[in-house]
Amino acid sequence: MEESLWPHYATMSFPLEPWAYVLIAAVALSLAFLVAAMIFGKRRTLNGKHVLITGGSAGIGLAMAVEAAKRGADVTIVARNERKLQEAKGQIESARKNADKQRVRTVRADVAAADTSSLDSALAAATDELGPAYLLVNNAGTSIPRRFLEADPSEARFMMDLNYHGSLNVTRALLPAMQRAGDGVVLFVSSQAGFLGIYGLATYSGSKYAVRGFAEALAMETRPFGVDVTVCCPPDTDTPGFEEEMKTKPEECKIISGSGSPMSAETIAK
Ligand SMILES: NC(=O)c1ccc[n+]([C@@H]2O[C@H](COP(=O)([O-])OP(=O)(O)OC[C@H]3O[C@@H](n4cnc5c(N)ncnc54)[C@H](OP(=O)(O)O)[C@@H]3O)[C@@H](O)[C@H]2O)c1
Repeated sequence: MEESLWPHYATMSFPLEPWAYVLIAAVALSLAFLVAAMIFGKRRTLNGKHVLITGGSAGIGLAMAVEAAKRGADVTIVARNERKLQEAKGQIESARKNADKQRVRTVRADVAAADTSSLDSALAAATDELGPAYLLVNNAGTSIPRRFLEADPSEARFMMDLNYHGSLNVTRALLPAMQRAGDGVVLFVSSQAGFLGIYGLATYSGSKYAVRGFAEALAMETRPFGVDVTVCCPPDTDTPGFEEEMKTKPEECKIISGSGSPMSAETIAK
């Protein structure tokens, strides 16, 4: 008769507690999933894709547009001032990886307009030409720092209209085609002030928290259609907009923000 192995196992000694083996197994499994996700997960490349950036004529938006051009994308930038749009277009064209293939388009529109009909038709013209956006960057935004009780209520409304509703307006216009294409990313540019409240930025923070909350919820709706939603929360960044906001920033805000120099727009764009 074959001898049972059980008595041998029963008398073997294990150097670790049972829970330690469970923990090791759990860590090993998690690592295996992580490696599998890195190997088999969806890889995002901008080469040959249409990248549409609001506020792409200056600051972080322009740096992102240049970066996208370097990575081989067709680029559309949206802003209000035609002269700045054309200057930015030149910079983006010079950064292209394949100058003969990549197209750069400008859209002159106000993303925060109460009546979105001309914004909608301008965006439709861009996607008719370059195809649905693969990466939509909702970047157009502004900050008017001031203590809450010293600020005119119209400033809070203005920031909410631009930072929050402006992002929604463009997303509403472009998302249906992105979902039909079944692939893409919507990136919202919030702020560190959309992550934690900072003295002197109360009304700005409100508008940027709103963007983050909206994005988190939207992600659940778009995921089944293959469209990811992500949020970028930059710290102080050296841009024309930053220069402008320094003019009204309370001293306390400057101290809390730190004495270090702002990041470069190029670093944030990457
Ligand atoms: N710079 C920072 O320290 C910092 C830090 C955290 C987050 N952010 C966020 O990053 C984003 C970009 O900031 P930035 O400093 O790069 O801004 P910026 O230098 O002021 O550039 C703003 C861009 O948005 C466009 N724009 C403004 N209002 C618009 C509107 N109503 N419709 C369409 N385009 C409009 C501007 O062009 P036109 O004026 O010609 O329209 C310009 O192209 C903003 O959302 C900002 O809140 C910035």
